Amino acid sequence: MEIRALRPNDDRSAFRSGDEVLDLFLHRYAGQNQFRHHLGVTYVAVEDNRILGFVTVAPRHVEIEDLPERTRRKLPRYPLPVLGLARLAVDSSARSVGLGSQLLRFVLGLAATMADTVGCAGVVVDAKPGAADFYARFGFSPFVPLEGQSDLRPAATTMWLPIEAIRKALATVR
Ligand SMILES: CC(C)(COP(=O)(O)OP(=O)(O)OC[C@H]1O[C@@H](n2cnc3c(N)ncnc32)[C@H](O)[C@@H]1OP(=O)(O)O)[C@@H](O)C(=O)NCCC(=O)NCCS
Repeated sequence: MEIRALRPNDDRSAFRSGDEVLDLFLHRYAGQNQFRHHLGVTYVAVEDNRILGFVTVAPRHVEIEDLPERTRRKLPRYPLPVLGLARLAVDSSARSVGLGSQLLRFVLGLAATMADTVGCAGVVVDAKPGAADFYARFGFSPFVPLEGQSDLRPAATTMWLPIEAIRKALATVR
């Protein structure tokens, strides 16, 4: 199994996670977002030319006021650059064998590279209902949602993992 950036000729049509919105995104929009508009990059977990999972990332920022008080004290008072984990899904046939964790760990690696090259205070995700516990296992914690988000995604929980915790996780977890 290989994790790599989506390519224009990858066949995405067979992917089924059970979440229609995520499946539609991969089938129809991931390619144009990445290759035409450059809005984000989708990384795919591929085995025998079959996409078994994907994760989409894009740069994002968090307002300092939204972070927990304890974190806020140490940071400057302007919006912080972070890596946004926009979408993550694993094909129903490949669940519970660690693929979701591998994709998430891959994103933590991207955030560490981003921190070293352009700046990155952490990874942020709007966790869907039922997925918050998955992120919590990696140390993600909830914080105040971004303005306007509640109208668009009423049930999502915005969570983040700061870069120091990411570096620790990458150093200890294989
Ligand atoms: C969430 C998802 C990506 C997890 O992928 P996966 O490959 O099955 O996860 P893993 O095999 O790496 O699971 C790692 C651990 O997390 C647990 N876990 C998996 N999904 C979980 C969830 N939704 N909530 C809590 N724990 C979860 C597993 O039980 C496993 O525990 P274990 O190590 O004790 O056995 C997958 O279930 C999925 O695609 N769900 C539908 C789409 C979705 O909700 N995406 C998240 C969008 S924010």
